[in-house]
Amino acid sequence: MIQLHDKQFVPFLSAQEIAHAITKMTAQVEADFKDEVPVFIGVLNGSFMVASDFMKSYKGACELSFVKMASYEGTSSTNDVKELIGINQDLSGRSVVIIEDIVDTGNTIEELHRIFNKQNVKQLKVATLFFKPEAYKKDFPIDYVGIRIPNKFIVGFGLDYDGLGRNLPEVYKLKE
Ligand code: IMP
Ligand code: MG
Repeated sequence: MIQLHDKQFVPFLSAQEIAHAITKMTAQVEADFKDEVPVFIGVLNGSFMVASDFMKSYKGACELSFVKMASYEGTSSTNDVKELIGINQDLSGRSVVIIEDIVDTGNTIEELHRIFNKQNVKQLKVATLFFKPEAYKKDFPIDYVGIRIPNKFIVGFGLDYDGLGRNLPEVYKLKE
């Protein structure tokens, strides 16, 4: 068990289970983008570890950039998603694959669709390591999912609780 701020967390997913989920996603994306050079867009802060492992296992030609978004306060999502760092690259006509650590309510994905549609991209796909289907409130397809999880708050592998826990190589869930 680990303690972060005022809360306790128990082990949930091992580093090996996470690695397996990422290589599964990478293989699917690779198969879909054989004939082009996709631009992967990691969503900071949470997705830095996923983006890194995803890139290392992706065999084809690809590019990587990041955007920074924030919506979470404590352990719940707010409706107000803010773009903190944007893209300064021409993406018109490009295939863009968003790389997320986790899709929860979908507010962040909705905001990303708004941002990238303005850029006239060829297509916009979403790859996420974790997905909470019970919490998802939008209709945008989530094209590549590593692991579906119940509607529980988790930390580790890039995900934080008020800043802490991002460095954990495995994933923990809030103790009930
Ligand atoms: P959404 O906008 O509600 O879909 O939430 C997306 C963002 O909220 C993710 O990219 C994470 O940064 C954060 N988030 C959602 N669920 C969790 C969680 O269980 N633990 C930590 N951060 C989370
Ligand atoms: Mg995130």
